[in-house]
Amino acid sequence: MPKATFPQVNKTFEVPDGFTILEVALNNDIDLEHNCGGNCACSTCHVVVAEGYENLSPKTDEEQDMLNEAEGLTQTSRLSCQSKIYGDIMVHIPASSNPLNNPDVAEIERLLKEKERQLAQAGVLKSQANPA
Ligand code: FES
Repeated sequence: MPKATFPQVNKTFEVPDGFTILEVALNNDIDLEHNCGGNCACSTCHVVVAEGYENLSPKTDEEQDMLNEAEGLTQTSRLSCQSKIYGDIMVHIPASSNPLNNPDVAEIERLLKEKERQLAQAGVLKSQANPA
């Protein structure tokens, strides 16, 4: 069974033939943007294949068109939702494809923390730092 390694999270997974990189990531709680839901209609699931590029399904013209929009494009870039795995690979997730680096997500998290702090101050929510 092929193996997919994600060095950024120091994890390797055995992958049934034909699973996509995106499926492996999502099935294993690895954060990877996928705004169009894996339909080759965005470039947010862009990954860089550090090893085993030849072990992936061939890139289609449609994928290349979308990939051209990706930030930080490299010679071994792929759209993770379009890349089926047929042998061992190693994948890097660019910052632009990590939702935790998305400024919108960071802003939402900041606003949620601020709201939680306000609710705790108002006594509506018990703060973990100040349990009653
Ligand atoms: Fe949109 Fe892969 S999730 S192209």
